[in-house]
Amino acid sequence: MIDVLIAESSSSAQEALLSRLKPLRDAWNMQYVIGTAAAQSALEAQRFDVVISDIGSAAGGATLDGIALLRDVRDRWPATVRLILSAQTSQDSVMKALPVAHQILAKPFDLTHLSRVVARACTLQAKLYSNGVMASLGSLKSLPAVPRLYQQLTQDLDSGRATPKSVASIIEQDMSMTLRLLQLVNSAFFGLARRITNIREAVTYLGFEPIRHLVASAELFRAMSKICAPAGFSLEEVQRHSQRVGMTAATLLTDRELSRTAYCAGMLHDIGQVILAVSMPEAYARAIDLSKRMGIRQHIAEQQIFACTHAEIGAHVLALWGLPPSLVEAVAFHHQPAALGEAQLGLAGAIHVADAMEHARLDGMSPSNPTPVLKRIDQDWIEAIGQRQALDGWIAGYESAAAA
Ligand SMILES: [Fe+2]
Ligand SMILES: [Fe+2]
Repeated sequence: MIDVLIAESSSSAQEALLSRLKPLRDAWNMQYVIGTAAAQSALEAQRFDVVISDIGSAAGGATLDGIALLRDVRDRWPATVRLILSAQTSQDSVMKALPVAHQILAKPFDLTHLSRVVARACTLQAKLYSNGVMASLGSLKSLPAVPRLYQQLTQDLDSGRATPKSVASIIEQDMSMTLRLLQLVNSAFFGLARRITNIREAVTYLGFEPIRHLVASAELFRAMSKICAPAGFSLEEVQRHSQRVGMTAATLLTDRELSRTAYCAGMLHDIGQVILAVSMPEAYARAIDLSKRMGIRQHIAEQQIFACTHAEIGAHVLALWGLPPSLVEAVAFHHQPAALGEAQLGLAGAIHVADAMEHARLDGMSPSNPTPVLKRIDQDWIEAIGQRQALDGWIAGYESAAAA
């Protein structure tokens, strides 16, 4: 049984939902509340696995503000799954809910889909808060703190009053971040017809969320570069690898928004390696050594030493930083996309393939020699999502992209 808290804005809405969710009574232990205050008291009184809330209304005096409620849940009970289930899913409210909700579902909804979404989000949370992850995090001297710039940016975006001007003025306080962002925006990846020379233009062009992810990635690498890494580990190499994975992953997805998120997810997918390496250098050096001696992949060696891998550690920290669950999920499952049970190539899948290709490139992969990439890709999964043939095209395209 999973414990589910359901927050509604009125008793009529509550009754409608109650009868709709009846078939789930054997699997879900449900508690219904009306309004934000009642939801908060229920959360303080007992632990819930899942919170499902209507968006309600953010207007003053409203009984339920679903986005504020889920933000509070994220900050105070981060292991709890957060869902929005609402009839009003306007572009604006969806944009605000995206960073705080694991999923946003519209009413009327399909019951099977809802229970599948809940199960998937529970899988992610179980991975991020496993005993192995919690024990490893417990032995870290310190977790990378949320940098001031990123924090200010998030506050501005969460306020709902952000404008390209206000976002730009926060980033521009920091000269090196300004330069780094302009460099990224003008890189070949974004394929701009003309050069963007100021942050305000960059924000207008890319949109708020991609800018926030890029700042998060640049800040994480910057924070980590001040600390000493163990022998055999190169921060620059991880950064270069991550950028290439991001660029490749973005080309595998046709949806423009998803493709941009894939770029950011690629930039961040191995951040857990950096966190483990700089926080526990001796243990991490042992993992590197084990992987080399036994000829096993890095994350398998990490699993033996830490009882978890860089994928979960990285995803856990990104979740704590408030990065959107879709991106956190892609980082957490980049070695095992099959565990998500998606029917097509999603974010985690794109990172998995791009990561495999990037490693295989170093192992001599070419269109006539696809073995290095086939060894690294989950073959059953690529067959199951119907992309086995597409993979040949990706390998050929990758060769020419690498040669360009
Ligand atoms: Fe990885
Ligand atoms: Fe990687």
